[in-house]
Amino acid sequence: MCGIVGYVGTREATPILLEGLKKLEDRGYDSAGIALINGGDAIELRKKSGRLDNLRRHLVNDPARGACGISHTRWATHGPPTDENAHPHTDQSGLLARVHNGVIENYQPLRDGMLARGHTFKSQTDTEVLAHLIGECYEAEAGAGTPETRLIAAVRKALGQITGAYGIAVMHLDAPGFLVGARLGSPLVVGLGKNENFLASDVTAIISHTSRAIYLNDHDLVYLTASDFNIENIEGGTAAYEVSQVEFTAEAAELGDYPHFMLKEIFEQPVSIENAFRGRLSDEEASAKLGGLNLSPSELRDIDRIVLCGCGTAFHAAMVGEYLIETLARIPTEVEISSEFRYRNLPLDKNTLVFTISQSGETIDTLAALREARRKGHRVLGLVNSVGSTIARESDGGVYLHAGPEIGVAATKSFTSQVTTLALLALLLGRMRHLSLAEGRTILEEIRALPDKVRQILTLSDHIKRIAECYLDCPGMLYLGRQFNYPTALEGALKMKEISYIYASGHASAELKHGIIALVSETCPSVFIAPKDTLLEKNISNIEEVKARKGPVIAITTEGCTEMERIADHVIYIPPTLECLSPLLAVIPLQLLSYHFAVAKGCDVDKPRNLAKSVTVE
Ligand code: G6P
Repeated sequence: MCGIVGYVGTREATPILLEGLKKLEDRGYDSAGIALINGGDAIELRKKSGRLDNLRRHLVNDPARGACGISHTRWATHGPPTDENAHPHTDQSGLLARVHNGVIENYQPLRDGMLARGHTFKSQTDTEVLAHLIGECYEAEAGAGTPETRLIAAVRKALGQITGAYGIAVMHLDAPGFLVGARLGSPLVVGLGKNENFLASDVTAIISHTSRAIYLNDHDLVYLTASDFNIENIEGGTAAYEVSQVEFTAEAAELGDYPHFMLKEIFEQPVSIENAFRGRLSDEEASAKLGGLNLSPSELRDIDRIVLCGCGTAFHAAMVGEYLIETLARIPTEVEISSEFRYRNLPLDKNTLVFTISQSGETIDTLAALREARRKGHRVLGLVNSVGSTIARESDGGVYLHAGPEIGVAATKSFTSQVTTLALLALLLGRMRHLSLAEGRTILEEIRALPDKVRQILTLSDHIKRIAECYLDCPGMLYLGRQFNYPTALEGALKMKEISYIYASGHASAELKHGIIALVSETCPSVFIAPKDTLLEKNISNIEEVKARKGPVIAITTEGCTEMERIADHVIYIPPTLECLSPLLAVIPLQLLSYHFAVAKGCDVDKPRNLAKSVTVE
């Protein structure tokens, strides 16, 4: 939530900062701003509400120059998305500027105190309060050391007075060519270049300039010049860090020939699913190899309960995981929304394995769940896409998705990669328990066949587009599925509502008659996920119930199940697979349906209103 980019070097900072912000727009796009130091007697501050392009246009008329700067793209928390509330914010003197990702919980008493001391505030944000506080601490350091050491001391003192979460970047006109950053709860990465250094909320913002990155830990404070950097603990002690080589290239985060990232990412799924299982299948053992779990075979055998935590799409993937693990490994599994897990004090015994699932690896609710479970002495594993992210680093082990960067705010390929890796986990645990060699082999074979089957479904994109166009005036949609495809229904409904802004809800098909059927009407289509499985007949009965009430039906079913043509208004066929893997195929038409629907309605599919990809506030 919110994106930060800082630059100090020898080049003009503005294009570098704007390019970085563009890559971070998925973290927030309510307003954007930059602040530069260029040797003049004032900070060059430009900020605009709305999308980054507004700031870009503003800079054409009123350019800002300088080789040292900080910038921000905002997801509003305190105060609406106006020019005044856009970051960067300056202190009382106007000589210090800072950007912030996170929330300062005690900003009100701090603000009241400063108002009493004669401060004036231009915005309603918590960020401006911290800028003033750092400025005040800087003044208190007058006469002590250089501007640089004073600024470091001021940041330290001010951060010592706040409660909340932050990733920050600060600079002061007295100390040109010098940036200070710090993090607690919100991500911050240092990029190391040649005669230039960077700060960013995510490596995607700096990957076109350098692939050498340091992922800061909570309580780290960093200061940077063009040629040097130093990382300390916020209290002044030493801090351990390592320089990582970023694996993906800048091109991986580019649109290429696709009109939207969401479509690109939907079409990447044959490859991203393959990347999730590549090198992890063992034919000899008819099982999966997940070395990153850091658990010995006997520790894996001792697990008698699993808790899976996630938010949004990751929560839906966890639900499929529950069905997979309980079916294949017969281990009781629970799924918890991360924010609920954190506060509900779930009883956990020593053989319970906690798994946190997160594409970004930065979702604060999931991170808090991980920390809570670890605080209780549990080993916590992570299923994460972003290498080097906080959840990946704080887990005791886990599995990377290797899906590559996911930029579209609506998660697509991360869902199928999460479900694929959960299937591998279920297979591994199952083969240590009840699954026979033959059953293991069948599952391996079907996992290997998934990429081609997904490719086949993707060829239906135009067919699905035509279906979507039939319902553009509908007020809402219902999504219905059973067993493994109940979570698929939830995920399909989430995709539809987050990018099209129509009401959509997912349900277990049999729940129709317990209330939902009251919503069925000629204008409210029902999307049934009804593959040829043990419950096909039951789903067909539910479809008949909807049809009897004149509700239009879009059915997703398995090739060969032609009886569906008789009852449904539209049929989308998916190739056959094992029942337990069917969500991996059934979700693809649902992603395409929501995509085409939203595009036809003129919605901004990659940056839906009010949302952000990486949610780092509670
Ligand atoms: C946000 C995104 C969702 C995502 C959820 C969890 O709400 O908009 O698409 O599913 O966060 O994100 P994570 O990175 O933890 O998977």
